[in-house]
Amino acid sequence: MMAERVTVTRGVYLVSAVRRDQYPAEEKPEIVFLGRSNVGKSSLINSLTRVHNLARVSSQPGKTQTINFYEVSLKIAGEEARRDFYLVDLPGYGYAKIGKGQRAIWQKFIREYLLSSPRISFVCQLIDARRAPMPSDIEMFHWLVENGLAVLPVATKIDKVKKTARAKNIAAIREALAVPEIDILPYSSVKNEGRSDLLDVIAAALVK
Ligand code: GTP
Ligand code: MG
Repeated sequence: MMAERVTVTRGVYLVSAVRRDQYPAEEKPEIVFLGRSNVGKSSLINSLTRVHNLARVSSQPGKTQTINFYEVSLKIAGEEARRDFYLVDLPGYGYAKIGKGQRAIWQKFIREYLLSSPRISFVCQLIDARRAPMPSDIEMFHWLVENGLAVLPVATKIDKVKKTARAKNIAAIREALAVPEIDILPYSSVKNEGRSDLLDVIAAALVK
């Protein structure tokens, strides 16, 4: 097997925040994971770092309630120094069971983080590969782009989609986002599919 170009050398939980004064004191590039409740954000962080149970996963939507920062280091083949950054796990949006008032508060502190952190490298917006994006996904995507954030759409739970349907489903996401040329990264946290591709994207962003 060919040696991987990018390896994760460290993945630890650092801090949870709901307010600005709780964000980490030390600034490092931030890679943010955002998407509907239950889409697989926390699972993806565990898959990417290969640290079992680093981020809490649940079959019940609404598991992650705070902005969670994980300190991660990676090594790029041929480079001596490690690259340090944060993976940031956000609460999901679009969870039907919580009331409108609660949802507004929730969205406010997520929005505040996304708009005020000067160190966001890019945002991975996770979208369920099994079905067409929901209106909330499409709205969120455009909101992120309008606010100047770089967005990488990630199609999650790709293991649940038959091989023959994958290209069609990915094309449907691209069409719904109305950005014909955008790259969409298919991912399976169960099979670790897409992992080395995502690590390559992260490494490229850190080197920039
Ligand atoms: P919230 O924190 O509630 O917003 O959810 P989340 O987006 O962090 O989702 P989480 O990682 O907790 O996963 C939700 C459910 O989806 C769990 O039952 C996971 O086991 C499952 N899941 C996550 N990723 C995958 C995947 O790639 N494939 C499959 N088959 N299941 C997945
Ligand atoms: Mg979560």
